[in-house]
Amino acid sequence: MYIPDMQLLKNLFENNRKWAEKIKDKDPDFFANLSRQQTPEYLWIGCSDSRVPANEIVGMMPGEIFVHRNIANLVIHTDMNCLSVIQYAVEVLKVKHIIVCGHYGCGGVKAAMDNEARGLIDNWLRYIKDIYLHHEGKLDTIKNERERFDLLCELNVIEQVANVSHIGIVQKAWAAGQDLSVHGWIYRITDGILKDLDVCITGPDDISRTHRLK
Ligand code: CO
Repeated sequence: MYIPDMQLLKNLFENNRKWAEKIKDKDPDFFANLSRQQTPEYLWIGCSDSRVPANEIVGMMPGEIFVHRNIANLVIHTDMNCLSVIQYAVEVLKVKHIIVCGHYGCGGVKAAMDNEARGLIDNWLRYIKDIYLHHEGKLDTIKNERERFDLLCELNVIEQVANVSHIGIVQKAWAAGQDLSVHGWIYRITDGILKDLDVCITGPDDISRTHRLK
């Protein structure tokens, strides 16, 4: 059997062994300790973009951050995948922080700004188009396309932070007195720097009455 990518994949396994050895050199029990449990304090919801790797950006080791990534870091209340991650993170791992992290130059956000038909993914990008429509008044006043794109990347994060806070699992945790905050951050690929969008939500008082659950 001929597998042309075999050589390339072999490199990945070599990299893996070097990586594991480097960690074990520093702490021989690292993996043994980690295998017993995970106690991350953070849930990261980010974009799938290969240039925005969760652990590396915030300098965290395996075991320190629970991660969910999808195109354009969306939190959709009918997405079983994302909801299951949030449920496990909040109810079992009892994370203290949920971080929605977007990034400037997001291809998903960019794609939602034009009228190209791309097939299946249009259904996913639709959520970003809805955000555009919601903020059309403000966005359309910005003539500079780059600035308009940057703002939509930020607005998308802010909307997703709100979406997280509206989820029943999150509201239930607050009602039970659980310490849980939802943050909105944005990452700039061109300089590797994170920015806090200052939209932190720490309890039901911060969310709209329409979405508040008893
Ligand atoms: Co992206």
